[in-house]
Amino acid sequence: MDIYEVMRTTFSARNFTDESVPNEVLYKIFDQARFAPSGGNRQGAHIIVVRDIDMKRKIADIAPYAAKRYKAQQKNGENPWNTIQKSELSESEIEETPVPKMLTEPIAQAPVVLVVGVDLRVVASMDQYLSRVGVVSGASIYPLVWNILLAARNEGYGGTITTMAISEEPSLREILGIPSYIAVAAIIPIGRPKKMLTKLRRQEVEKFTHLEKWSGLPLTEKN
Ligand SMILES: Cc1cc2nc3c(=O)[nH]c(=O)nc-3n(C[C@H](O)[C@H](O)[C@H](O)COP(=O)(O)O)c2cc1C
Repeated sequence: MDIYEVMRTTFSARNFTDESVPNEVLYKIFDQARFAPSGGNRQGAHIIVVRDIDMKRKIADIAPYAAKRYKAQQKNGENPWNTIQKSELSESEIEETPVPKMLTEPIAQAPVVLVVGVDLRVVASMDQYLSRVGVVSGASIYPLVWNILLAARNEGYGGTITTMAISEEPSLREILGIPSYIAVAAIIPIGRPKKMLTKLRRQEVEKFTHLEKWSGLPLTEKN
């Protein structure tokens, strides 16, 4: 596929056929994805390839609280799990929210699940002393995560970055035997999508660009 077509059509696939994703295909995907950058080229990524049905179920079953909170906040007009806008919801309101299956079941149903972690012992976290949530550390792992999804799309497969279960990382650590210095960055169900979406809803360039300063004009095709 043309690279721009891959970029424009790599959607979040959550419904998969029963077709397996052979190890040869995963190898090919990782062999392309590994050219992603990381801070100082430290390459701290580790990927656990999970096929065992019971293990996938266990991982999916870690996500319900986070998923309920996500859904409840969304319904309340909030930005879910946001660090700036705090939630107005009570714990009981969250508890009473039905588990949104879309946020848990793809992990249990996908033929293969990738648990992607990064070795914090090699990550440069340039924003660690700022009084806001850290974002820079993620930049040493998410380029690889996204490359995996782009390569999977190119091979006719699909998946989704999921993060719900990471809110309970200690449980993930326990069931998968992940050491304490590895941060889990994404849990990615992968498979052959039942339906390939090709039209993604994204903002126009003019909506997120600023020329010279925050207050500057947006970049357009003409200026
Ligand atoms: C950092 C990040 C975390 C995400 N976490 C989840 C998740 O936990 N569960 C899920 O189903 N989708 C998750 N997504 C997928 C987004 O919901 C999805 O990319 C977005 O809605 C756009 O969907 P589309 O690509 O199909 O248009 C996540 C995406 C990102 C980038």
